[in-house]
Parts: sequence; structure tokens; C-alpha cells
Amino acid sequence: MADTNPSAAQLMDAARAAAAHAYAPYSKFRVGAALLFDDGLVVTGCNVENMSYGLTSCAERNALFRAVSEHGANRKIVAIAVTNLNNQASPPCGACRQVLSEFAAPGAVISFCGANGVETLPFKDLLPFQFHLEF
Ligand code: THU
Repeated sequence: MADTNPSAAQLMDAARAAAAHAYAPYSKFRVGAALLFDDGLVVTGCNVENMSYGLTSCAERNALFRAVSEHGANRKIVAIAVTNLNNQASPPCGACRQVLSEFAAPGAVISFCGANGVETLPFKDLLPFQFHLEF
């Protein structure tokens, strides 16, 4: 358990730092994401594009897949920050919303660049009616 969780601003700073690593030679749109888990763990990711454009992988999903790969799947996300280095609005795409939803805690919040600056809202407001199966 981490002693102190990062603030929303610190989580956004981590997302911005990750965006600096983006591989985006085609769109030039550099995205970073930072996920805060319920034990204080923070994992970041950036978008990685490909010449075969459809194989591009978003920052949010890369962060989530990295987290599971490196730390396992037993944590829940309590806060998400997404930003870009292009000064444009960048709410997470639909695919990333669905993937993040599988690991989002009930009260998880998400911050992203909106049309008028950073927007913060409950994650569940971003993806109502997510695909969900009971096993
Ligand atoms: N991108 C992300 O990283 N996250 C999103 O939620 C939307 C889009 C990336 C994919 C691509 O590399 C670039 O932004 C332009 O679509």
C-alpha cells in the first residue's frame, strides 16, 4: 500500500510524461495515460502507431495491458488521467472505455482534456451500458 496517493494533478503530470514517449509518426497526435490503482500503484502508457494503421494501439489500453502484464490483474483502477501534447480535446475512444471498464472500481474517476480544459467525471458516466458478462 502506497503511503500517499498522487493528486489528480500529479496523475495528469504522469500521463503527460508518458505522452512524450508516444510513437505517433502518422497522426502526430501524442497521447499519454496514467492509471491509479486501489493500492496506490500508478502505471502509464502512450499510443504506439503502426504503418498498418489499424494496428495502432491507444495510450489508455497500452497502460492497462502494461499494468496487467507487469503486476497482475487483481487491482482495480480508482483514477485515470489522459492527456495529449497537441492541445486538443482527447476523451478516450470507445474501445478504450470498454477495456478500462473491466478494471474500473465502482467509484473510479477519469480526467481528460475536454474542449474547455481538463474535465473530471465518474468513469461510469463515460460508458453507460458497457458490455458485461457474469461468469
Ligand atoms: N489515441 C489514443 O491514444 N487514445 C484515444 O483514446 C484516442 C486516440 C491515439 C491513437 C492514434 O495514435 C492517435 O491517437 C490518433 O488517433
